[in-house]
Amino acid sequence: MKVTVLGAGNVGATCAQRILEKDLADVYLVDVVEGLAEGKALDLAQAAPLLGTSRRINGGTSYDGASGSDIVVITAGKPRTPGMSREDLLTINGKIVASLARQAAAVAPGAFVIVVTNPLDITTYIAGRVMDLPRERVMGMAGLLDTARFRTFIGWQLGCSATDVTAMVLGGHGDSMVPIVSHATVGGVPLTQLVPPDVLEAIVQRTRDGGAEVVKLLKTGSAFYAPGAAVADMVGAILNDQKRLVPVSAKLDGEYGMDGIFLGVPVLLGAGGVESVVEMTLPEAELAALKASGDAVRAAMEMWSSLAGDDPAGW
Ligand code: LAC
Repeated sequence: MKVTVLGAGNVGATCAQRILEKDLADVYLVDVVEGLAEGKALDLAQAAPLLGTSRRINGGTSYDGASGSDIVVITAGKPRTPGMSREDLLTINGKIVASLARQAAAVAPGAFVIVVTNPLDITTYIAGRVMDLPRERVMGMAGLLDTARFRTFIGWQLGCSATDVTAMVLGGHGDSMVPIVSHATVGGVPLTQLVPPDVLEAIVQRTRDGGAEVVKLLKTGSAFYAPGAAVADMVGAILNDQKRLVPVSAKLDGEYGMDGIFLGVPVLLGAGGVESVVEMTLPEAELAALKASGDAVRAAMEMWSSLAGDDPAGW
């Protein structure tokens, strides 16, 4: 098994580290900056005996080492700085992802692709278009991350372990994301029975701002530990055929009344990639919020298409 990680910044390197720690696959790390991927890969390779893994890791600037990859993870791009929305990154990161996707398609055409670069739902669409992938094979990592944040804040509120919190955050990976309160449970108890509505609303808002809160504190760069852990979870689900039921950004084909956009929805994630999109019945307000989030993603997608033209080869 081999996973190629494009981008050896904090997110890419942390993904690589988690994949090795979990003993999931060999890793090839790529970055345009001379020495960066090679140096981080060397450092991680030297950690392998301490981690108890026999997996190999290499890195470089060339895509040649990516050939035969089972999964390609795209993390390269500019992170946010304080005050920026994820959508502000569209022009610069859209072009980066299009270029990387084209190069990855040339050496690893059969791979599954997990996109992490923001604005997530649009870059996932761009990678899918450029690489001409069926929907099973291309997905964005966001739902697991946003859900982990939601679970963490609920756990803190109740003074209980976040591992006992079962919840989902759906919609776009942006300000319009939809933490689903109606179906959230803690140890099987409905969340709405445990937390009053005003406190719940504050938790929902903190979840939406979860990435920005980290950006504001770090001042340069954005979150990477939780994003790296979320990617490794997705990689494990695919490589080990775990059939996880988790939210990822997946192409909608009429589900939830939407079509042709990538949006965070529950999917069955296994050896076939996005094996199915799971439709759940949502209360009216949450469904309306999900559709509004879909509208926001579609608007950004159309903005990208008008910038890039409709010819993926030219992107
Ligand atoms: C975040 C970035 C990775 O949510 O989008 O932290």
